[in-house]
Amino acid sequence: MTQLPTISFTTLSAEPQAGTAVYFAGEGEGVPAHLHKLDTESGGTIAKAIQVSAFKGKRKSVIEILAPHGLYAGRVLIVGVGDLKSLNAREWMDIGGAVRGKMPAKTSQADIFFSGLEALTGEAALAFAFGYGLRSYAFKKYKSKAPAGTTEGERDSAENGGSTTSLTVFSEWGNGLAKAFEKYTAVSEGLYLARDLVNEPANVLTPPEFTGRLRALEAEGLKVEVLDERALKSLGMNALLAVGQGSAQPSSAVILRWDGTAHSNTRQRNLVFIGKGVCFDTGGISIKPAQGMEDMKGDMAGAAAVAGVMLALARRKAPVRAAGLVGLVENMPSGTAIRPGDIITSASGQTIEILNTDAEGRLVLADLLWYAQTHLEPKLLVTLATLTGAILVALGKENAGLFSNDDALASQITEAGLDTGETVWRLPLSKKYNKAIDSKLADVKNIGGRDAGSITAAQFLQRFVKSGAIWAHLDIAGTAMASQATDINHSWGSGYGVRLLDRFSEKFHES
Ligand code: BES
Ligand code: MN
Ligand code: ZN
Repeated sequence: MTQLPTISFTTLSAEPQAGTAVYFAGEGEGVPAHLHKLDTESGGTIAKAIQVSAFKGKRKSVIEILAPHGLYAGRVLIVGVGDLKSLNAREWMDIGGAVRGKMPAKTSQADIFFSGLEALTGEAALAFAFGYGLRSYAFKKYKSKAPAGTTEGERDSAENGGSTTSLTVFSEWGNGLAKAFEKYTAVSEGLYLARDLVNEPANVLTPPEFTGRLRALEAEGLKVEVLDERALKSLGMNALLAVGQGSAQPSSAVILRWDGTAHSNTRQRNLVFIGKGVCFDTGGISIKPAQGMEDMKGDMAGAAAVAGVMLALARRKAPVRAAGLVGLVENMPSGTAIRPGDIITSASGQTIEILNTDAEGRLVLADLLWYAQTHLEPKLLVTLATLTGAILVALGKENAGLFSNDDALASQITEAGLDTGETVWRLPLSKKYNKAIDSKLADVKNIGGRDAGSITAAQFLQRFVKSGAIWAHLDIAGTAMASQATDINHSWGSGYGVRLLDRFSEKFHES
């Protein structure tokens, strides 16, 4: 797994180490008061740099001063944080990411001086360091050639995505922040895991390989249970199996369990997170066009997010009971593949007419939903899936689509989205859309008409949600893969969903 950078916390009087020193400035002209001493030591270099670059402390504006006279650091960054009143944890996380983005890849050791402005609180320092660490992620596993002139150490660093980078936060709280940062490290590890899984090509991350990586999470304190094809068959999970039947790779389902609650007679019910893990989606016999098909290695991003959030919960020993469930399959065209027109009987007993083999994710989720409701004691269920291209048409890459049969659950997820920046936008479910998936021959068909594709997909899932069960569905096709560059991520896989669901659990469901 890609390694996190080393992040440490120390007092303001500690000896600075790194080649790069970072200071903050609020909005305003000239040298901020808390940097006067630095300016004097540098013989006025800071003031001059601020003047020539017309630096006014705008948020994420950065000036870089190389080899300043009289200072220990070879490089000084002055980072604008903008209007102090509008700073919150999410903004600080983004600033941390933006600062990491200003660091040269090879020498990314930095000393951050977190003092001088009222806004520089302990919470802010933690959020900053969190963002810095998230932006440090890079997927370099398959870069075999290091650029000419790099040393062995630098090459190791590059291969690990910059693992030898480090950050030291200097503040009045000193090492006291380290304990509080453990929680952020836990979430970062979950996020790195999710990104690694999404970025991995499909020839490597086959369903058995994915299964193996999940088994390895046992060492992190999760209980792991694997349902192989035989077990799936005896459970009647024919919808999931149908998707994988054209592939040379065996399908599986994996259950990850975390129980961080104090043991009592009344066991809490589980938060259940369910992920679509289509390791590659060719479309099957209803094959996709060649253009852009390579992106379908990311069609397991829902499963990756589930793995990531379960790891985060375990790592931070969250006081909650949760279960993750993923269906791992490969959707291939072959002599054994499902055909348009085939009718299968799902685990719930409902029959499904498959009219398009490319609408496969909902088939996998249908059986997983049944399994979760019959075997995992859910308090609530959340499905995560790169389910439809139509969600990109509706919402672009800025929001995941949220569907829910429960207003309270929907608003909890919406709020967690705003807190983390992994935002969602709710779309409707209703009987009117449900009609579009009635089948002439079976109970339900796996495609609706041309219109409202993301909604009819969610309606399909709802047919497998028992009445009374509390359920939300996140369509993450626009947010989890082929990601836009942001302050905290420049890799193809974003790890979307890990921070959202970790926050959702922490804020609303932990004792
Ligand atoms: N995995 C795709 C959806 C997708 C598209 C994810 C783009 C990420 C980016 C899904 O299995 C699919 O193919 N959906 C079809 C459904 C249609 C056949 C009803 C789609 O969106 O075209
Ligand atoms: Mn598909
Ligand atoms: Zn798919």
